[in-house]
Amino acid sequence: MAATASSGESQRRRRVLMFPLPFQGHLNPMLQLAGALHACGGLDVTVFHAAFNAPDPAGHRFVPVGDGVPFGGLLPSGSDADFAGALLRMNERLRGPFRDSLRQVLDEDEGGASACLVVDSNLRGMQLVAEELGVPTLVLRTGSAACLVAYMAFPALCDKGLLPPPSQDQIQLDMPLNELPPLRLRDMVFSTTTTHATMARCLECLLESARCSSGVIINTLQDLESSELQKIANGLGVPIYAIGPLHKISSGTESSLLAQDRTCMEWLDKQETDSVLYVSFGSLASMDEKELLETAWGLANSQRPFLWVIRHNLVQSSEQASLPDGFEEATRGRGMVVSWAPQQDVLGHRAVGGFWTHNGWNSTLESICEGVPMICRPQFADQMINMRYVQEVWKIGFELEGELERGKIEGAVRRLLCEEEGREMRQRAKDFRNKAVNCMDEGGSSKTAIDLLLKRIMSF
Ligand code: UDX
Repeated sequence: MAATASSGESQRRRRVLMFPLPFQGHLNPMLQLAGALHACGGLDVTVFHAAFNAPDPAGHRFVPVGDGVPFGGLLPSGSDADFAGALLRMNERLRGPFRDSLRQVLDEDEGGASACLVVDSNLRGMQLVAEELGVPTLVLRTGSAACLVAYMAFPALCDKGLLPPPSQDQIQLDMPLNELPPLRLRDMVFSTTTTHATMARCLECLLESARCSSGVIINTLQDLESSELQKIANGLGVPIYAIGPLHKISSGTESSLLAQDRTCMEWLDKQETDSVLYVSFGSLASMDEKELLETAWGLANSQRPFLWVIRHNLVQSSEQASLPDGFEEATRGRGMVVSWAPQQDVLGHRAVGGFWTHNGWNSTLESICEGVPMICRPQFADQMINMRYVQEVWKIGFELEGELERGKIEGAVRRLLCEEEGREMRQRAKDFRNKAVNCMDEGGSSKTAIDLLLKRIMSF
């Protein structure tokens, strides 16, 4: 059933327009939100999408933007990728084409059905277009609340002379940031391949997008990040809607850009409860060949069952990762390698007892929601911040630091899967899982926030 205005005048269908950032970790929550708004509020959704990395349009109306825009060299990949720079260029190149597409959709709009545009917080350029054309905007933050708090503090840390770090001295980089516990200075260096000026510009756009919106939607839950959410509400001066975990309202599985290999589910069925380590580093993180080798032998030597995702472009400068000789024999019957997994189902399987992750926010939240503790190996952007919260605040995992080396990996796997400390982390993670279920019940914090969000949308 489509949602309608209920003010007593003529009833009219409402439609929400969306513009996700075209990367897996951003597409998933936006399309989950689309599913949630449709499921909980009966709203129709139109998704504007860059003409690259476009997902399967299943279920929603899709409007490609920027056909013919030269995206070559724009998509970040590999260890030296400058993600922040790519975001700025993407905003520039998509802005004009989006203006044309949005105008066209608004022209076709019967009776002003389009209520608002929900835009990824990294797409300030698209928000400016919506402003120009008189369309109200809501911003979706696909990262954690803690990450947004850190981004909000970035300008003040620059003013204090702490950022960019004055030196690469390790003691200085380890300096705790009193205003942002449990973060250290090093956790605010989002990437070694992006210049400070580019990063600062990117965060300025991101914060502007939040402040200029009619509200910020965050994929998190009160029980996990209540004080961070309060800081955001105080600091931004716009309504905040903490409606996560979004994947629990709507799986948005159609948003997967890669084909999921579901044979691993049958394999998991044959494994003992809490025995398997799931290893995956999301859609963008990468490793070199030596790290692949050490990871392979670390997993093999741990003697524990594992399910490992080796994405086609996981290994830098190699299209096809090759596992070392002898690895298959050493792990036969105990290990499985796939190129892309149905991650939410994997983490929800009773056999999975631990997750070795890069701590992208989706992976972190999906793990928490299934009560799975983590080995953390963050690489860039928000991943270090997420890792610090997993380790220091929620105490449901620990960092695997420094150079990847097989002995260290073996030790970490055993610590998580075989030792008392790991069991305690699993228990705490399971407590969070229960909270993530309860927040979606009637009267729960996320359910209440979704109702408020729907009201807001219907008020435009
Ligand atoms: C990126 C950034 O790297 C991350 O730091 C930021 O928080 C979001 O954008 P990504 O690296 O892809 O995301 O990681 P993550 O946020 O964890 O998202 C990956 C998504 O892909 C998850 O929803 C996960 O379920 C899905 N996935 C991953 C699969 O479906 N199958 C897999 O095999 C691996």
